[in-house]
Amino acid sequence: MNTEQQIDLTRIPEHIAVIMDGNGRWAKKQGQDRLFGHSFGVDAVRQTVNACQKLGVRYLTMYAFSTENWGRPKAEVDGLMELMVRTIVGEIPDLMKRKVRIHGIGDLEGLPEDCKAEMYNAIEVTKNNTGLHLILALNYSAKWEITKAVKKIAEKTKAGDLDPIAVNEELISANLSTAAFPDPELLIRTSGEMRLSNFLLWQCAYSEFYFTEVLWPDFNEEELYKAVIDFQFRERRFGKTSEQIINVE
Ligand code: FPP
Repeated sequence: MNTEQQIDLTRIPEHIAVIMDGNGRWAKKQGQDRLFGHSFGVDAVRQTVNACQKLGVRYLTMYAFSTENWGRPKAEVDGLMELMVRTIVGEIPDLMKRKVRIHGIGDLEGLPEDCKAEMYNAIEVTKNNTGLHLILALNYSAKWEITKAVKKIAEKTKAGDLDPIAVNEELISANLSTAAFPDPELLIRTSGEMRLSNFLLWQCAYSEFYFTEVLWPDFNEEELYKAVIDFQFRERRFGKTSEQIINVE
């Protein structure tokens, strides 16, 4: 039985989130510059999208650029933005064929003009696609997103349009950039680092975390299947006891 065949297709996570990490280290190992690693990382994105489609995953969120990433050397930031534009433009025909719908979370307004324009274009042209929802986190940070939501709620309260009593978890979720998507059941991070790095802090409250030593450019369909198999062996208790979960089933 190959890895894909070991997956229980009746228990596929509806939403997988990915922190793509290790491009720089991968490039260094080959004696190349960091951008070389990022460009090979695009193929790993393709493979992850393919694998998710094969399994019937509905939502895939990928952390492509954090608000903290602006602090990297200018040449790397510029190169990453160019790569993003090239990838988005270049992949649209294939994404259309595969019925993938693109979404963007993060401060898209703060992106360079061409990147912003291509992102908005990709969101627009794929908006009627009914397949996988591919959510790109670009210029994203969870603390930025939560702060923005709190501000929106505070303004409504101040204007008298919202009673503070009505502020609950659902209302906060509804004011995040992920309001239209379910929370991820599975979060994958590559390269052996074990932290969230300001990614989906609210939404990952009950996600299963899967950490792998594999560097992002080496991540592929097989690695995604391994993560899903690992997920399927977890017992998701949501604060309850094992016995309660077994009795429900
Ligand atoms: C982290 O590796 C990777 C990034 C910050 C960039 C990821 C972006 C891509 C792979 C391009 C994808 C494009 C689209 C449109 C989805 P790192 O540079 O932090 O690696 P290191 O920790 O080894 O230095």
